[in-house]
Amino acid sequence: MSLFRRKNIRDMQAEALGSQHLRRALGPVNLVMLGIGAIIGTGIFVLTGTVAAVNAGPAVVLSFVLAGIAAVFAAFCYSEFASLVPMSGSAYAYGYATLGEFFAWIIGWDLILEYAVGAVTVAIGWSGYVVSFLKDIGVNLPPQLIAATGTTVTLANGQVVTAWFNLPAVFIVAVITTLLVVGIKESAGFNNFIVIIKLAVILIFIGGAIWAINPSNWTPFIPEYESPRHFGWSGVLAGAQIVFFAYIGFDAVSTAAQEARNPQRDMPIGIIGSLLVCTVLYILVSGIATGVVHYKDLNVADPIALVADRANLGWMADLIKVGAIAGLSSVILVMLYGQSRVFWAMSNDGLLPPFVNKVHPRFRTPWLTSIFTGLGVAFFAGVLTVREASELCSIGTLLAFVIVSVGIVVLRIREPHLPRAFKCPAVWFVGPMGALTAGTLMAFASATTWKRLIIWLIIGLIIYFSYSRHRSKLAHGQQPNGSMPPP
Ligand code: ALA
Repeated sequence: MSLFRRKNIRDMQAEALGSQHLRRALGPVNLVMLGIGAIIGTGIFVLTGTVAAVNAGPAVVLSFVLAGIAAVFAAFCYSEFASLVPMSGSAYAYGYATLGEFFAWIIGWDLILEYAVGAVTVAIGWSGYVVSFLKDIGVNLPPQLIAATGTTVTLANGQVVTAWFNLPAVFIVAVITTLLVVGIKESAGFNNFIVIIKLAVILIFIGGAIWAINPSNWTPFIPEYESPRHFGWSGVLAGAQIVFFAYIGFDAVSTAAQEARNPQRDMPIGIIGSLLVCTVLYILVSGIATGVVHYKDLNVADPIALVADRANLGWMADLIKVGAIAGLSSVILVMLYGQSRVFWAMSNDGLLPPFVNKVHPRFRTPWLTSIFTGLGVAFFAGVLTVREASELCSIGTLLAFVIVSVGIVVLRIREPHLPRAFKCPAVWFVGPMGALTAGTLMAFASATTWKRLIIWLIIGLIIYFSYSRHRSKLAHGQQPNGSMPPP
């Protein structure tokens, strides 16, 4: 069945481990930092507020716990794959080796929702904090230009205006795309610096705001059910589907497999370690935020800054805004960079046209792809709300997780004796549970998000059957060289 033709996993392994194209510079600490750098972003800085206000109330804490459980199952599966097939292209490459080309295509196509739509979401979050910070220093951007198309913005004097588009979100995508085109790549040193800022900001928030908690804000902890996805347990689960976005990024560690000094041992440490740190921080931050400010007041573009203001943290509130702005910028960079690597891998396999990999003669970067991706991301960052974008990104990523969780079990059955540096513990439980938990969260997405996912997949299938299937290098008997991502 040509639909399910697979790459040879032993060849991929040999090729990846023998690859000398990239410097192997990253140790376990850098990998954990890389993960934290990609994970902490709009999820905690923005979605905590909107999910508390609209879906879960103070039980947004439970939403974070549930989403964290789903992420941990998937993280174990990713870790086994990443230590087994340490190739760029992440889940796409794993899919190609285990479930075959058709599923690899679906994952690759779906990863666009994770990386590109993820970048859209974080750019919108960035905009909220920038607008708020500029206001603090006396710069008021025109309200029509600070929110998603067609949404309403209420001015300080109570006047309500309809927004045209989100200019700051478009701006940051343009800046980061330019950096990627001219070849700026976040270095491990720079990433560590940003991660330290992010962690410092979050710890300052926790240490400062915890004293302002008013426990009466936590009752009722799970507000009474109002309608599907709004409060009650249905709201907690819908909230988990949305805040799942906050955990996305640990798989970015897997895309660095070829730069890890000892991928077999260190990838699992990087993936699982970063996830654990973030889970603890998320639970603390969301608990404190809903304890300081009543959940109904948290539906703002910069909820963590609002909580800091209400906790009378004074200058620390501005520090938190600046830290969030810096931290979110680096997440956008990681996401757009990750997207270029997935496109690179797909084009290298012949599933996307060769121009995708066209390298700029001077900058040595896949510039055309970066520009097209940047244009698309900027457009959607201008017109979507943070909730719309994060729901779509989450559902797409959850689908990739379902496939990876199934893939890991399939591989154990098909290739039980492959040497595995990291073996997913209790794989017969963790794999199915990974698929089940991710699938359950998907079920709680809104009907609109489901429609968008289905339309996206249909477009992907049309491209696959009309183009990729025929151009696939595997179809022509070549084992594509998958070892060298864009410079
Ligand atoms: N987890 C990342 C964030 O919350 C994508 O921004």
